[in-house]
Amino acid sequence: MSETATDIHAWWPEAAAEWPESDRDRLARLDPERLPAHVAIIMDGNGRWARQRGFMDRIRGHEAGIESVREAARTCAQLRLKALTLYAFSKENWQRPVREVTALMALLTRFLVNERGELMDNDIRLRTVGVPADLPDGARRELEESICLTAGNRGLVLNLALSYGGRDEIVRAARRAMDMARGGELSPEGLDETAFAGLLDTAGLPEPDLLIRTSGEMRVSNFLLWQIAYAEIHVTGVLWPDFRRPQLLEALLDYQRRERRYGRVPNASPEES
Ligand code: FPP
Repeated sequence: MSETATDIHAWWPEAAAEWPESDRDRLARLDPERLPAHVAIIMDGNGRWARQRGFMDRIRGHEAGIESVREAARTCAQLRLKALTLYAFSKENWQRPVREVTALMALLTRFLVNERGELMDNDIRLRTVGVPADLPDGARRELEESICLTAGNRGLVLNLALSYGGRDEIVRAARRAMDMARGGELSPEGLDETAFAGLLDTAGLPEPDLLIRTSGEMRVSNFLLWQIAYAEIHVTGVLWPDFRRPQLLEALLDYQRRERRYGRVPNASPEES
C-alpha cells in the first residue's frame, strides 16, 4: 500500500476491512474532518415496506426496521460520531390502532434486551428524549436497565425518541424554567437560548447537524423542533427497512456537499459585510 493510501485510510474504522468495495469507496470519498457530530433520523415507511411485500400486517415492516436501526447505530459508532437520535415512537403514535401500539412496545422491549451485547461491543451509550414514563412497565424497566448498563460507555450516544413530541418537549422545558424562576434559581434575563437548550431533553448533546427522513415525505413531523434550527436535511425515497449502511454513507456524502452558512453570506468575514 502506498503512503498516500495509508494516510487516506488512517481514520477508517477497523470494521471497514469487512465492508463491500462499494461502501469502502463511499468511505474514501468522505472527509473525516467534516463528519456530522449528531445525526437525527425520522424512520418512515415501515408500513409501505410491509404492504409492498404483500404482508397484511404493518408490524412486519417495523420488525424489518430493527435491522436498519442496528446498522445505523453500528455505523455511526464505527465512524465515531457523537450522537444518533432515532424517532422511534411519537406522542401522536399512541393514536395508532391498539394492536400496532402493543406490537411496537413489544418490539421495543425485545430490542432493548437483545441489543445489549451490540451496544456494549460498540461502546454505545443509550439515552432517551420524550416521556419514557408513558411507556408500559415492561418496556420502561428494560429501558432503565439498558441505560444503566451502558452509562459508562464513551462512544456514540444512541438517543431514542420515545413518546416524543417537539412541541411537548418545548412546553416541558418552559415549565421547568417557570419552576426554577419560582424557586429563585433563574431570572427572566438569565433565560437565553443556551440556558433554554439546557432545559430540553437533549441537554448536553450537540445539535443535530444532519436530519435524515426516509420514504420521501417532506415533513419534520414535530421532531426536535428547537434543535434542528440549522440542521441540513436529507430526504430519501428509500423506505426505512431498506435504509442500510450504503444509504447512510450516501446521506453523509450529501451532507458534505452542503455549504453551512447559519444565515451568513458565503466566505465573508464580518469586516467585509
Ligand atoms: C414510521 O413508519 C415508523 C414508526 C412509527 C416506528 C418506527 C419504529 C421502528 C423502526 C422499530 C422500532 C424501533 C426501535 C428503536 C426499537 P410508518 O409505520 O408510519 O410507515 P408508513 O408511513 O409507510 O405507514
